[in-house]
Amino acid sequence: MGTKLIIDTDPGVDDAFAIALAAVSADVDLLGVTTVFGNVPLAMTTANARRLLQLCDRPDVPVAAGAARPLVHRNERNSTVHGVDGLSGRAGSLPEATRPLEPQDAVGLMVSLLEASDEPVTIAPIGPLTNVAALLAAHPGVRDKIARIVLMGGGMAHGNITAAAEFNIWADPEAARRVLSEDDVPCVMVPLDLTHRCAVDSAWLAKLASSGPIGKALDALTPDYLAHYRRVLGYDGIVMHDAVAVAEAINPGLLRTETYPVNVDTSAGPSRGQTLVDRRPALQDPGAQPGRLIEVATDTDLDGLREFVLTRLIEAR
Ligand code: BDR
Ligand code: CA
Repeated sequence: MGTKLIIDTDPGVDDAFAIALAAVSADVDLLGVTTVFGNVPLAMTTANARRLLQLCDRPDVPVAAGAARPLVHRNERNSTVHGVDGLSGRAGSLPEATRPLEPQDAVGLMVSLLEASDEPVTIAPIGPLTNVAALLAAHPGVRDKIARIVLMGGGMAHGNITAAAEFNIWADPEAARRVLSEDDVPCVMVPLDLTHRCAVDSAWLAKLASSGPIGKALDALTPDYLAHYRRVLGYDGIVMHDAVAVAEAINPGLLRTETYPVNVDTSAGPSRGQTLVDRRPALQDPGAQPGRLIEVATDTDLDGLREFVLTRLIEAR
């Protein structure tokens, strides 16, 4: 029945687009959604994820709550770009979830789903990597059940929450280092450099808004996010970071990738949370870099990607 997928998320306006993309795609077997602190505190990200699945008429998808804070260093700062409740203050406009929250926590649900799956599962982390690092650390036996991890995070040229760091990595650098540099599960990193190039404009959002109830509800979640990205982009538009990663997760090869070693700065200095993508040419020589290599998404057919996401959301079941 298509790609088996678990999304780990902190909704988040762009998370909302990403969850909806997977939830309405008939060729995706969305096994579960797990939540993590991030854009807003855990109780809000969890409530938002549940309401978003209800919006998409997917009460069959279990939701489990995970980490409320980073693995090592506590960090009270949330993102400010998604509004007070993570959805531009409009979370209450989404339908209430009919399915109860799972009694298991996020790691417990991921383990159950992975163990029960008859084929490898893709995990798409689109928030801080705390839950995924805990999964890999505490349950090494489930690695074989993970087809690949396709994550939104990191930046090559610059950050967004600081000059050096992208938000998801900065929010829990130790967890990110575990997943990106210290493990061996196949991993695709979708960095800021590419997600920004996939930004969508007001015409794209207008087409989405006029497509039906799901598109209209998603567009209604964007005002605060749009206000932020208007300043960043210089035009009316948004960067749908997380939907770019989920598009690759459900349609492998949609993004072009290059293979590099990636490290994460876990120091306490100004570069904390920076992803160091080692693009030195000599490292491309066969045998020059025996260490862990990550597929970094560097390019795509930008209009094709925008059209892929829009068409899926418009053709919601
Ligand atoms: C990432 O940070 C969050 O604000 C977004 O939801 C996305 O996952 C972009 O840096
Ligand atoms: Ca996110």
